[in-house]
Amino acid sequence: MSLITRNSIELDLGHLHVWSATAVKDNRQLNELSELLAADEVERANKYVFEKDRWIYVTAKFLLRSILGNYLNINPKEIAFEYSEFGKPSYLKNIEVDFNVSHSGNRIIIGFAKQQTIGVDIEKIKQDFDPLDLAKIFFSEEEINALSQAKESEMFQAFYRCWTRKESFIKAVGEGLSYPLDSFAVTMDNDHRARFLKIDNNQDSKKDWQLSSFVPADGYIAAITTNGNPNKIEFFDANEILFGEIDG
Ligand SMILES: CC(C)(COP(=O)(O)OP(=O)(O)OC[C@H]1O[C@@H](n2cnc3c(N)ncnc32)[C@H](O)[C@@H]1OP(=O)(O)O)[C@@H](O)C(=O)NCCC(=O)NCCS
Repeated sequence: MSLITRNSIELDLGHLHVWSATAVKDNRQLNELSELLAADEVERANKYVFEKDRWIYVTAKFLLRSILGNYLNINPKEIAFEYSEFGKPSYLKNIEVDFNVSHSGNRIIIGFAKQQTIGVDIEKIKQDFDPLDLAKIFFSEEEINALSQAKESEMFQAFYRCWTRKESFIKAVGEGLSYPLDSFAVTMDNDHRARFLKIDNNQDSKKDWQLSSFVPADGYIAAITTNGNPNKIEFFDANEILFGEIDG
């Protein structure tokens, strides 16, 4: 494990940084990572019944603190997160940099943006359910229609593209499921064509938000929503922080 050298990576205005990692599974290393966590985070980590949930939680919190500490040039241990009424964490002492965490399977992504609100979502692709049945519960009418027209072989990809895109928007807004899922619609075709079709049933609102979509690892799909238009998205491998050296 190596902490990022101070100031080694700069987050510029208009750039999004997306860090991706695999959860640490080794309990000795996990204890080392936990040393950076706040007391309430360690308490929460210890409450997880399944080991894999603890691994992913601790790894994600360690990385969030390390990377945010680097951007803000502060000691990661001193960061005191605050939580909105819907649970969205932020660091109110520095509202310049927004961040959002997502985990699924054994993968983590963390998105960072300067002076922009950000939401991210990653999902491990499972194929043990009927995508249309689930779409009827969570998707808007436009999305259900689009999914029902997808080729059989592309059904799950299309479903997960739509799900992660919607979820990244919900997470950017920060209101959880109190935000009606049928009041906005996204595309579900390939990453280059990720975009909002409508937001709040208003064609104009969609101009305020930008959607991106990518494959962070085999078997996973992810999406990012920001308000405003990022001019560059940069991807970083956070495993270098956990398992190797990172260049200063
Ligand atoms: C937290 C929430 C917003 C996302 O949950 P999730 O998809 O299970 O989890 P993710 O791994 O993507 O994100 C979890 C992280 O998001 C952050 N988070 C928590 N509440 C949040 C909120 N209201 N808004 C944004 N981010 C939030 C936290 O950092 C959390 O990490 P932690 O649990 O390790 O502390 C959840 O409350 C929710 O509303 N889920 C909706 C699921 C759903 O039905 N989606 C339909 C999509 S079509």
